[in-house]
Amino acid sequence: KKLLLLNGPNLGILGKREPEIYGTATLADVEESVAKAVADRGWHVVAVQRESEGELIQTIQDNYETVGAIVNPGALMIAGWSLRDALASYPRPWIEVHLSNVWARESFRHESVLAPLADGVIAGLGADGYRLAAQALLARTAG
Ligand code: DQA
Repeated sequence: KKLLLLNGPNLGILGKREPEIYGTATLADVEESVAKAVADRGWHVVAVQRESEGELIQTIQDNYETVGAIVNPGALMIAGWSLRDALASYPRPWIEVHLSNVWARESFRHESVLAPLADGVIAGLGADGYRLAAQALLARTAG
């Protein structure tokens, strides 16, 4: 079984990107922690990071057979309507993750067009949020 870990724009530079906001863990660290969290269940992680909305959408369409998804859409949370439609067609549970507490930041980050479709949202817990999302998907998925 495979779990989709999808990261959007500007998340490939995690660790170097405004570390006072996003922390020092790299995307490789995040991918490793998610892989570890699901290894006991025999799940594998399909980890994809893309800068553009179209490529993220294509990745979702190519991964309908995954058991669930963890999605950090970056700023596409704000107005990523096409990404929203792609996630509406995704047939499995998925969790939106933000490293930072977006509600403690600028007001343009306070609304997500994606969150109403998510099974849950985790924000403000840094890289731990991804691991917690993986645990939540494990708990919600039989086998
Ligand atoms: C983010 C929060 C977004 O507002 C921002 O645009 C990002 C990162 C986070 O993980 O905290 O790119 O999704």
